[in-house]
Amino acid sequence: MSEHFRVQGGARLVGEVEVVGAKNSVLKLMAAALLAEGTTTLTNCPEILDVPLMADVLRGLGCAVTVEHDVVSITTPAELSHRADFASMSKLRASVCVLGPLVGRLRRAVVALPGGDAIGSRPLDMHQNGLRQLGARSEIEHGCVVAEAEGLHGAQIWLDFPSVGATENILMAAVLADGTTVIDNAAREPEIVDLCTMLQQMGAKIEGAGTSTLTVHGVTSLRPTRHRVIGDRIVGATWAMAAAMTRGDITVRGVDPHHLDLVLEKLRLAGADVSLLDAPSPADAVPSAPPGTSPLFSATSGQGFRVQMNGRPRSVDFVTLPYPGFATDLQPFAVALAAVSDGVSMITENVFEARFRFIEEMVRLGADARTDGHHAVIRGVERLSSAPVWASDIRAGAGLVLAGLCAEGVTEVWDVFHIDRGYPCFVENLRRLGADVERVAEAPSR
Ligand code: UD1
Repeated sequence: MSEHFRVQGGARLVGEVEVVGAKNSVLKLMAAALLAEGTTTLTNCPEILDVPLMADVLRGLGCAVTVEHDVVSITTPAELSHRADFASMSKLRASVCVLGPLVGRLRRAVVALPGGDAIGSRPLDMHQNGLRQLGARSEIEHGCVVAEAEGLHGAQIWLDFPSVGATENILMAAVLADGTTVIDNAAREPEIVDLCTMLQQMGAKIEGAGTSTLTVHGVTSLRPTRHRVIGDRIVGATWAMAAAMTRGDITVRGVDPHHLDLVLEKLRLAGADVSLLDAPSPADAVPSAPPGTSPLFSATSGQGFRVQMNGRPRSVDFVTLPYPGFATDLQPFAVALAAVSDGVSMITENVFEARFRFIEEMVRLGADARTDGHHAVIRGVERLSSAPVWASDIRAGAGLVLAGLCAEGVTEVWDVFHIDRGYPCFVENLRRLGADVERVAEAPSR
């Protein structure tokens, strides 16, 4: 039985929404738990499909994992398996981040090539090259990444591109290597900083988190920890864009607004009023957490922002780049916003070449858009027109739902399992903000 979302156009989204932990952080933090024997606990985890899928990957390696609401506990045994099989790995791309921890801890790994979103080619050459420079042999054999090392030693590693996944895998192998590793042109995403914070709590020695040079002094072992996952900036930005597109007024809590500086600036340029919310007073935080653990409420948990849009948004240009540039994951929302803005916008995609496939679905909804290589030119229309459309990945799916809110009539968004992989309670949150959206289970009509 296939499910779709039925989206009635014309809603103005108004109200408050709470954002929980970041998908792109929690999955890596779960993998990092492989680095230390014992029980690691993660709080503020999003209740999305990818979390139980990642739990299955870890179980396959010998861990005991429990997922209860927003708390994930991973008990890593002394003896781990070094083989992650295709059945569990194929379901999510982030599963590839078990490679680094396995090589770090066991000095060998056989990890099936991962699945995930259809957003373009996603090679692993930088992951493999980094591990090779740490002293491992690494090949692709029979659909698996095979890596093996007698010993791992620190190295100077230059990445061709600040790849998030390669930075994470190399980092998680280097924390248990002999000597010092320097990763240059490292990714600077807030989720990388979150991973570094957790690894430091586990006893890793890392300098430069959040900069493009990460220095890792290897240690011989790590200890388990308790860690609160940072708020999901991509989900937070989704609501910010939704406010602008629907000419609404949304307050978003639970995410550090500075992780969205560029997004919020773009929305100001589009004509929105944007204000930042204060962090909670120290009295709101849990007074004392056990040594070596994070408090239950981090400094950012009460932070957020408000986006109000009166009238039609003005067109703005967007260029996707690694952080602190405009995130490629937000490109579908940039396209959807441009489609209803006053004027012409140019959107440039620099990270994943196939992400513009989403535009074909937007054209179905009446967007006046054309693409040429890395660029899309979009002439905004006053109102889109409803149609059945198909989600090709998490963000494209959410973008189509928001576009449907700006369309005349009822839009059906199909293949919504993609959206469930990244957005906890998406329909519920939309309804709370005043949208007429429902999840419907039936066979497709085309
Ligand atoms: C992560 C995010 C994804 C986000 C992306 C870029 C997770 C689970 N996913 O994906 O949502 O869109 O960062 O912000 O965190 N590349 C290579 N060789 C490599 C590795 C990457 O050529 O070895 C290329 C990719 O094809 C892509 C670019 O580098 O063009 C960026 O990829 P990367 O930053 O690695 O993205 P992911 O970690 O896969």
